[in-house]
Amino acid sequence: MESNSSEPGAVVEFLRSHVGEWVTESCLAGQLGIELASLQAMAAELAQEGYKICVEPAKGWRFTGCEDRLIPREIQRELHTAVIGRSVAVLSSTASTNDEAWKQAGNGAAEGAVVLAEEQTAGRGRMGRSWQAPRGSGVLMSILLHPRLEIRQSHALTAMSSVAVAQSIREHLQVPARIRWPNDIFIGEHKVAGILVEGRPSSSGAQFVLGIGVNVNLGEEEFPPELQGIATSLSAATGHAVERVELVRWLLQSLDRWYRDLRSGDIGRIANHWRQLSSTLGRRVALLEDGHEFRGMVLDLCMEEGLIVRLDEGLTRIFRPATATLRHLPEAR
Ligand code: BTN
Repeated sequence: MESNSSEPGAVVEFLRSHVGEWVTESCLAGQLGIELASLQAMAAELAQEGYKICVEPAKGWRFTGCEDRLIPREIQRELHTAVIGRSVAVLSSTASTNDEAWKQAGNGAAEGAVVLAEEQTAGRGRMGRSWQAPRGSGVLMSILLHPRLEIRQSHALTAMSSVAVAQSIREHLQVPARIRWPNDIFIGEHKVAGILVEGRPSSSGAQFVLGIGVNVNLGEEEFPPELQGIATSLSAATGHAVERVELVRWLLQSLDRWYRDLRSGDIGRIANHWRQLSSTLGRRVALLEDGHEFRGMVLDLCMEEGLIVRLDEGLTRIFRPATATLRHLPEAR
């Protein structure tokens, strides 16, 4: 009997249909056509991946669920996407998943490859900032994309991703996530997710790595001191732990749907949703640019140009995401 690489997947599916029950090894081997010797090695392999399987010689195997771990096979199970998630890799620890995705791009990975990590030692954010998350507490994910955009058009990818992330949080967790210009995901006045798009030229058109960080299961007191009062998590917002595997699947499916619009040139639909989900439109804001602070009212948002603000001095001007950082000000009473 030959072994084949789909065996662990078939074993997991079989065990899932007998969750909590003892299944003898001879039953497993017979039902799935697997040699007893390869089954024994597989138990250790699956436990290593994060499947909770008790093995007792007299009784057989008993599957009781999965550890709170991002298991590629579980993410890809029932993942309904066309492009995003064609391959899914999970690293235990890495400097930055964006770096890993670029490495994969260099090795010829196909568009839609996803890299996740349980921990980053040098996670990065926009404008040279860092992204920090305690091990296993969040979603740290990068996706390789070839959207037929020029690098200077990366704002469309950024807007598309922020719409996809905000929408999946709203839809699946009933939490009123909104987009704070240009691409931060906030719940109320606290940041829950950030997006970092990086583009590089290649012989077949620009390639992009879309990096997404989501704070998932951590108490507000667990954030580093500099983020206390600024950041929040999905568990804090919903009042319960959020299954990260399921969240990753929702995010990938939402991203895949919006990516289809982007690929087909329907940027208008993305821009409309980006504006509708904005918490910045119509707000009083402070913008820091080149060491100067400007205050005013946000009149409009333009994906290509930036934030259109009527300054308190009366002048209207545009601020670009690459050079300005934004703070919402309390509404005037
Ligand atoms: C920001 O808010 O400035 C963007 C943060 C983006 C963080 C994510 S975490 C996964 C991916 N890898 C990184 O190094 N950064 C992005």
